[in-house]
Amino acid sequence: MRTLLKNGTVVNDSDCVKADVLIEDGIIKEVSSSIDAPDAELTDAGGKLLLPGAVDAHTHMDLDVGFTRACDDFYSGTVAAACGGTTTIIDHMAFGPKGVYPWHQVKEYHSLADGNAVTDYSFHGVLQEKADDRTLAEIREIAEKEGITSFKLYLTYDMMLHDKDVFAVLNEAKRSNILITVHCENDGIVNYLRDRCGAENNLTAAFHPKSRPAEAEAEAVNRMLYMAECADEAPLYIVHLSSEAGLKEVLAARKRGQKHFGVETCPQYLVLNDSLYDDPEEGLKAIMSPPLRKDSDRTALWEALKNDFLDTVATDHCPFTFENQKQRGKDDFRLCPNGAPGVEERLPLLFSEGYGKGRITLPQCVKYLCVNPAKIFGLYPKKGVIKPGSDADIVIMDPEKTRTIRSASLHGNADYSCYEGMEIKGAIDMVFLRGEMIVKDNEFLGKKGTGRYLKRGISSLCL
Ligand code: URP
Ligand code: ZN
Repeated sequence: MRTLLKNGTVVNDSDCVKADVLIEDGIIKEVSSSIDAPDAELTDAGGKLLLPGAVDAHTHMDLDVGFTRACDDFYSGTVAAACGGTTTIIDHMAFGPKGVYPWHQVKEYHSLADGNAVTDYSFHGVLQEKADDRTLAEIREIAEKEGITSFKLYLTYDMMLHDKDVFAVLNEAKRSNILITVHCENDGIVNYLRDRCGAENNLTAAFHPKSRPAEAEAEAVNRMLYMAECADEAPLYIVHLSSEAGLKEVLAARKRGQKHFGVETCPQYLVLNDSLYDDPEEGLKAIMSPPLRKDSDRTALWEALKNDFLDTVATDHCPFTFENQKQRGKDDFRLCPNGAPGVEERLPLLFSEGYGKGRITLPQCVKYLCVNPAKIFGLYPKKGVIKPGSDADIVIMDPEKTRTIRSASLHGNADYSCYEGMEIKGAIDMVFLRGEMIVKDNEFLGKKGTGRYLKRGISSLCL
């Protein structure tokens, strides 16, 4: 089957070029200024932008947090992703029951995603509690057999790893070309402050950011970067960087010449600020870790994106309903499930708030949303780029159309958006996954279960 997208402007991370795109059997066959293919099904892009289908390297579909689950499963969450121009997700596994080894969650996640996802998908493995010989042997085996070439560890939460185990993992990662992704917050600071909030009866949402200060992030970022450096520059990826203080540690490592690490930020840390916590009711919607920060942090993160000092923009999509699930925290923010929706809003937000407001260029948008996540997570050039040989994952975007974000017209199961009422410039007209049109004019046209599991190669950060 052949499809021809005519009269588009193809945007990659290097340039924007007026071109036609010919697709054959789900793969991009040709990209050039004027293609004639009378046998192909024709779609007129009408001079609009053709972006690579975006790759979201940080989602939490169906996340089990013990007392509840994220309200999007792999079906509703990937429908939302697709409608927002994301055609590949890499989902972060939840911790398994205490005492399990890494294979346990790999099997669990296949049972959650296979037959449900509508975008292509992969998983990051999860490391919990310890890093003994069996754990290290399993992550090597999982990387080889499953193509899960990145594993996440946490420096906070009950099943966090302590420094000696973190260092063991980093050494194994270096030996085996595995990428370690890390949630950076200093557990001691956070737990001390949360306990103090409890003791002083400071339990409204406004105390959530106070209990997780930027310094707690900065200390953990600094520690991880030095530990990776000390493990002969083990490959490292810092998830959801939220603060200027954390960024300073990243810049210091770059200045020292450390190369094998990547840093992610998320739309919420670029677009929102901690004033959302002022309202004790509404503030529950934005309870996530790390928390929203000050405007000065947002400005610093935008500046870093402009100067290519960060690597990706992912979502940390982890939705819970406001009506029911988030209410658990109404009398004590510490009981609120952490996380917020955002998988559908990411591309439109970066386009509008980044490119639309002149903070970053259009190729930079593509770099942060598509090319870099594909390279860093071993999916490039199959994913993240519009060029011959790549999967035909393509978003047709109208750069002039404006719209208002309304949770009612989003596709996930959350009953709110943190961006409700925001006016944005740029709208997605169509989304193709491997040559199939799966979204048109905000309507999902695909079928449950058509997303494919992706075995990933080694990260560009290992090279
Ligand atoms: O608040 C967040 N980010 N929830 C998702 C789990 C995690 O910490 O990544
Ligand atoms: Zn996360």
